[in-house]
Amino acid sequence: MRIHHHQVEHHDSQSIGQWVEQFRPFSKEGKCASYIPALAQKDPQQLAISIIGPNSEQIVGGDVTELFTLQSVSKVVTFILACMDRGLPYVLERVDVEPTGDTFNSIIRLESHQPGKPFNPMINAGAITVSSMLDGSSPQEKVAKILSFLEQMVGKQLKVNEEVFQSEWQTANRNRSLAYYLMDSGFLDCPVEEALEVYLKQCAIEVNVSDLAMIGLLIANDGYHPQRKIQLFPKQVAKLAKALMVTCGMYNASGKFAAFIGLPAKSGVSGAIVAAVPNHASLESPFPAGCGIGIYGPAIDDIGNSVAGVKLLKHVADEWNMTIF
Ligand code: DON
Repeated sequence: MRIHHHQVEHHDSQSIGQWVEQFRPFSKEGKCASYIPALAQKDPQQLAISIIGPNSEQIVGGDVTELFTLQSVSKVVTFILACMDRGLPYVLERVDVEPTGDTFNSIIRLESHQPGKPFNPMINAGAITVSSMLDGSSPQEKVAKILSFLEQMVGKQLKVNEEVFQSEWQTANRNRSLAYYLMDSGFLDCPVEEALEVYLKQCAIEVNVSDLAMIGLLIANDGYHPQRKIQLFPKQVAKLAKALMVTCGMYNASGKFAAFIGLPAKSGVSGAIVAAVPNHASLESPFPAGCGIGIYGPAIDDIGNSVAGVKLLKHVADEWNMTIF
């Protein structure tokens, strides 16, 4: 089903357009991810935002037609899916919900804390474990399930960007190491190469900023799809996803992001950010019943977050008093 969004107040859309241009120059302070060759070719100056509310109200600004890959934003989606496939106790036995303060691809805690359980599903180790436990007897089946779950959220067909997948598959030495380590300590439910294929394909799913905003809206709305009027995932899982986004979603900048922006959010090295604004948080915004925010700005900082994207999101959240705290 296609969902038609309508515009909110004219001056609010105008503000968004101006804010995008105000923050676009900050992309110079970052760089496109270079460890994934296909991402290095993106235009670092791009910046886009989409905000969607539960009554289909929408504001967009910047390079909104641009397509990009989900990268680590996919980690929230597969975590939700694994909870639905296996139930919470099973998932939580295999991946914890504690922030690390380390980089997203760090291996150190898998050995320094026994029994080697990954700290949370928002870092690579935890996400590889989560992908290994998804329902499906082959990587193809698991990826098809992820795609179909996402398609139910965004209301259109999605696909894996094969070039980005191949690019990463061939350079995935660190992720392979993580997966072998997880396998050795019993935290992988399927063979290493299968878990990696699912994980890297979910990272390479292609979206635009409005797709991201829809994902954010559904998480904000506790799994209930306001247009389709169905519960896509359980409320309890949505609450957990939001808590994980607040504590671990922006990698080792999650503390500062919570302190100075105050929204559940998840970033990816493609420059994607999804934020979920719950409905009690935004009485002064044009989205009093909450909203989802999607941002794309491929120039990222050393930690892996979009430089201009984070600044733009902070400005929007400040202007419209969206903090959850
Ligand atoms: O596994 C990786 O390194 C990438 N596919 C995803 C990492 C990512 O997005 C971390 N983000 N900041």
